Amino acid sequence: MLSVRDLSVYFSSSRGEVKALDGVSLDVSEGEIVGLAGESGCGKTTLSLAVSRLIYPPGRIASGSILFEGNDVLKLTATQFRETYRWKKIAMIFQGSMNGFTPVFTIGDQIEEVLEIHRYGGDPAARTRELLRMVELDPSIAERFPHELSGGQKQRAFIAMALAVDPPFLIADEPTTALDVVTQVSIINLLKKLRKEKHISILIITHDLALLSEIVDRAYILYAGRMAEVGTAEEIFRDPKHPYTKGLIASIPTLKSTKIEGIAGFMPDLANLPPGCKFAPRCPYAMEVCTKEEPQLKGVREAQSVACWLY
Ligand SMILES: Nc1ncnc2c1ncn2[C@@H]1O[C@H](COP(=O)(O)OP(=O)(O)OP(=O)(O)O)[C@@H](O)[C@H]1O
Ligand SMILES: [Mg+2]
Repeated sequence: MLSVRDLSVYFSSSRGEVKALDGVSLDVSEGEIVGLAGESGCGKTTLSLAVSRLIYPPGRIASGSILFEGNDVLKLTATQFRETYRWKKIAMIFQGSMNGFTPVFTIGDQIEEVLEIHRYGGDPAARTRELLRMVELDPSIAERFPHELSGGQKQRAFIAMALAVDPPFLIADEPTTALDVVTQVSIINLLKKLRKEKHISILIITHDLALLSEIVDRAYILYAGRMAEVGTAEEIFRDPKHPYTKGLIASIPTLKSTKIEGIAGFMPDLANLPPGCKFAPRCPYAMEVCTKEEPQLKGVREAQSVACWLY
């Protein structure tokens, strides 16, 4: 369904060119839930914005292609993309979207506006109530203003808005951040239900690996704008190969852990990247080659690939 090929996205800044993504590839098949994980600032949101054609200056897509159902959406004009793809085929739950509602209009007004703009036929008020029921909210929420909803309710209302015109593909950027654990689980179950009942493909972005292991079929691990590892959830969580993935998994607190491992150091400045493997300065296994040459993704199992000189 989605095939991102060798995508590079750069932002110009006073510090120089910020290489937010460099040669990144990612695939999502029909009905698949794919995870994209990595620490803050590694380029996750940039990737989702590129897929939604929402990279604006000072950002630019330096190279690569984004194929959706076989068509390169980067070759379309802004109008063509808006008419055919945005929200109709590729909808997005933006990072922090629960705070993205306009405070002066009701939830119903805001969902109905989406239906009008995308020319969804039928009665917009009835469709809004149907959407709210789909995300397990009381339809009367349509008459309420955003400040009258809890964070979890707002997040569900935004998911309803994302589903307004039945998109086959949904990007969810940190859909559970800032919610309590119980609400997190209910949002995850909602996404699982949508996949099962509506066969929606989902790209879920998070830095929460525990959550990812609960929901995805396959996961991509991004580090400093480069893909470090990819594999099925089983492969990644049972037998991670990249020292970065191992570090991320070791950072998940458990009920028994007395101390959280974490990964020492910081991600390098994306405007001033070191040569070789970008993780080498923090890597406990770094060898001489790691500081000189950049490793490429290499298959280690059927679906698992890793960009690391250890393999
Ligand atoms: N408009 C912009 N101008 C300059 N730099 C930008 C811009 N947008 C993003 N960046 C930079 O691109 C890099 C990737 O940002 P991005 O938002 O994709 O990270 P992220 O992985 O989504 O992080 P988080 O987990 O914190 O949401 C960061 O270094 C960020 O500072
Ligand atoms: Mg982000």
